[in-house]
Amino acid sequence: MISIKSKSELQKIRNSGLIVAKTLKYLKSKVKPGITTRQLDLEAANFIKKHNARAAFLNYHGYPGSICASINEEVVHGIPGDRVLLEGDIISLDVGVELAGYFGDSAITVAVGKISDQNKKLIEVTRDALYKAIDVARKDNYLSDIGYAVQSYVEKAGFAVVRDFVGHGIGAKLHEEPQIPNFGKPGNGVKLRPGMVLAIEPMVNLGTWKVEVLGDGWTAVTQDDSCSAHFEHTICITNSKAKILTALN
Ligand code: MF3
Ligand code: CO
Repeated sequence: MISIKSKSELQKIRNSGLIVAKTLKYLKSKVKPGITTRQLDLEAANFIKKHNARAAFLNYHGYPGSICASINEEVVHGIPGDRVLLEGDIISLDVGVELAGYFGDSAITVAVGKISDQNKKLIEVTRDALYKAIDVARKDNYLSDIGYAVQSYVEKAGFAVVRDFVGHGIGAKLHEEPQIPNFGKPGNGVKLRPGMVLAIEPMVNLGTWKVEVLGDGWTAVTQDDSCSAHFEHTICITNSKAKILTALN
């Protein structure tokens, strides 16, 4: 069952989502050649604490970081560590926080210094795919319209959509029903209803869509080591267009 959130619940999710947005903006300003993902994780942990919130990923099913930081061929769930950012890299930053019992979740991919035109295009297409998905996330549309919007846009651009990880409902838990694939046919699944809150998160690869998880049990990488990008917003279905709860304002 997909829960319908009350006004006061939506406000709480927005309060968390705003801290997520501010954290991502802050982290983006820290992304430079020479910094490690562990330093970014520490910056995020301090920033979130300063806002009286809790980093939602830390210890979630044993996850060891406050954020996910995934470089180049790393798709999602990159564990912060000693890897140093190099000029030309791209890095996906995924942040979730809990405040007053409600969660917000968002991700961006950013350039480290100057990057290739191909990586620029990858980032742009992935971000645009998220906004295409948000566009169709409307009352009386179907859940699978979201994945169809992502897949058709991404494949037209010549890139590939990751199948093994999906978006999700969110609210009083980080992961709620439904699962939201970033691929598939339109017109299937439940009808979207005002008050549903969804974390939509397309992951897009330059090469194959196939991924594998490293020996650390978390870090997902592309099978062909091609670069990958990831954008995510927490949104609410309304009577008109969806409201982005992890926007900066
Ligand atoms: N946005 C990702 C997700 O919803 C991040 C989760 S990291 C985890 O799956 F550690 F919490 F799993
Ligand atoms: Co998520």
